[in-house]
Amino acid sequence: MKTCVLIIAVVLFSLLALAQSQPQLNLMPMPASVQQGSGTLPVTQSFSVSVTGAHDAALEAGVQRFVAQLSRQTGIPFHPKAGAAATLTVHADKGLEAVLKLDEDESYQLTVTDAGAQLFAPTTLGALHGLQTFLQLVTITQSGFVAPAVTIKDQPRFPWRGLLIDVSRHFIPVDVLKRNLDGMAAVKMNVLHWHLSDDQGFRVESKVFPKLAGMGSEGHYYTQAEIRDFISYAHDRGIRVIPEFDTPGHSRSWFVGYPDLASGEGPFSVENENGPSSVTDPTREETYKFMDKFVEEMGKLFPDAYFHIGGDEVDGKFWDGNPKIQAFKQAHGMKTNQDLQAYYNQRLQKILAKHHKTMIGWDEILHPDLPKTIVVQSWRGQESLAAAAKQGYGGLLSYGYYVDLMWPAARHYNVEPMSGGAASLTAEQQKLILGGESCQWAEWVTPENIDSHIWPRNAAIAERLWSPQDVTDVNSMYARMHAVSLELESLGLTHDSTRDQMLQRMAGISDITALRVLADVVEPVKDYNRWSDEKGPIDFHAPLTRMIDAVYPESDAAREFSNLVQQFVQSGYKDQAAEARIRTWLTLWRYNDAKLHPLLQQSALLQEDIPVSQNLAMLGAAGLQALDYLDKGQSEPDLWKAQQMAVIEQAKKPVAGLLLMVVAPVQQLVEASGEASR
Ligand code: ACM
Repeated sequence: MKTCVLIIAVVLFSLLALAQSQPQLNLMPMPASVQQGSGTLPVTQSFSVSVTGAHDAALEAGVQRFVAQLSRQTGIPFHPKAGAAATLTVHADKGLEAVLKLDEDESYQLTVTDAGAQLFAPTTLGALHGLQTFLQLVTITQSGFVAPAVTIKDQPRFPWRGLLIDVSRHFIPVDVLKRNLDGMAAVKMNVLHWHLSDDQGFRVESKVFPKLAGMGSEGHYYTQAEIRDFISYAHDRGIRVIPEFDTPGHSRSWFVGYPDLASGEGPFSVENENGPSSVTDPTREETYKFMDKFVEEMGKLFPDAYFHIGGDEVDGKFWDGNPKIQAFKQAHGMKTNQDLQAYYNQRLQKILAKHHKTMIGWDEILHPDLPKTIVVQSWRGQESLAAAAKQGYGGLLSYGYYVDLMWPAARHYNVEPMSGGAASLTAEQQKLILGGESCQWAEWVTPENIDSHIWPRNAAIAERLWSPQDVTDVNSMYARMHAVSLELESLGLTHDSTRDQMLQRMAGISDITALRVLADVVEPVKDYNRWSDEKGPIDFHAPLTRMIDAVYPESDAAREFSNLVQQFVQSGYKDQAAEARIRTWLTLWRYNDAKLHPLLQQSALLQEDIPVSQNLAMLGAAGLQALDYLDKGQSEPDLWKAQQMAVIEQAKKPVAGLLLMVVAPVQQLVEASGEASR
């Protein structure tokens, strides 16, 4: 018995020691099961891959991309020895389906030992995911690049893990979208939701209705050849492309060329926000004839089984203001505009079904008269997702995943699809929750800065949708997200590098050290507060070249500073190492404005940021003085404290759409120095 206990203790102790000696793997999304082993597999010039099993063209291309990416990541030009055993063997039982479905088997198993690596998957799709995991395993060590020994068994938690990109408000060219597909594949997202039409632009060539893009896009749209090429690019990476044509609301761009579709009077324009808006007229038979031909054409162009009809935010005033539509409602016994929209959706759903498409739409389409096959995408709240599932409808969560709201990654990460109303669903109902989608609405992005509005925060959402529900450690998430961010840049995304290029353009010089100090601690205003700063309607053609357009949505420096202050406070103000680092930051900020001011002054693009820089200097000074009081164990004079609190209140207010993210921890120091006795 004693021996037994001793053995167990020794085994447990060894496992613990092993676990402690092993650094965290930089995998994101975290796989379902990871068992670390001992030893490492060197990644050297002789690295090679062999493929067995189904070995379809998609896997062949995937392996080639994998090798090219591994070479970029390590800088090693691979030169395998002829006849030598492969370093990595890849086996998939079954090739990629010509059109990917919702319920594909995406699982894989990856084993790495010091002698080699094996990847097994039931499908090419799973093998592609496993290759991405291998790329994330490779790190630099004292002995060169290696993959640590590990056994990974992985599959996604949800089958639908999407990213919506709006290309209507600002047109985003195909090459920019393609690099975002590469990013999605790296974090195992599998649906690109393409928001192709809205009031500001209709972005797809239609040969049946050429005036849709011809008159509704100012020339910025995708040709059908470009779309086919894009869908094929996505398919090669295991990503489905779902088109969204928003109707009956958000559809002014349709009416520029086809004004008869509208409920209100034209003329219509996509020039700017000023032109009359409208919604589709659901009472005319011609509308349905149009939609039938349109869905037939687009249904062939976009092979996926799902077809998104939008359906959100229908402005009822255009129906209320049209006597013919009012008479129609009355004749059909419809009481509300929701009833009329449900009528429209039912007719549209039948058209979609005729062309073998499954309808998906936003919250507002949920109506008991629609068949249970439709899928509801929840943007207004988590509760509507549960409500849909309770009524037997499939659902996707987007509420909480709007990356255009400029939230920190942790806030998105904490949005759990199965929480709230969904937590009390039956097991059958829970299966109806298919996953979720992050959303990049494009009011405030251009091809230049869109990557930085999506990445790296989107990786945190990808993890929420792929990894087990109990993977929730925020510190671990941030550490891994930083590693993924480097990987994404080496894949060709520009989320990190664009900022400094934009700052250099604003400054007109290459040495932007002082400007970077300021940019590092600010974030754009949150939610839709940027809208309220606009003096009139948004001009979607205006340049987006201000500091607010360049800075990262989330400040790492501010988060680190805030964590340091928490550590210092929790130590009872005794942690001297933390205090020294806090002082270094505060000193940097205290004296930065003196260097930066002349630069801000001489640039029309930067002048608006002068008060932000001044506020940062004042915060630096306040924080340093607070620490001096703390060090001396003195209570600060009331007058000083009142003055500092006034500075802090001023610094809290957004200037030029920027929030100084270090205000709260500095306030904590100022308040603490009154209370602390050391
Ligand atoms: C939406 O944000 N209106 C879907």
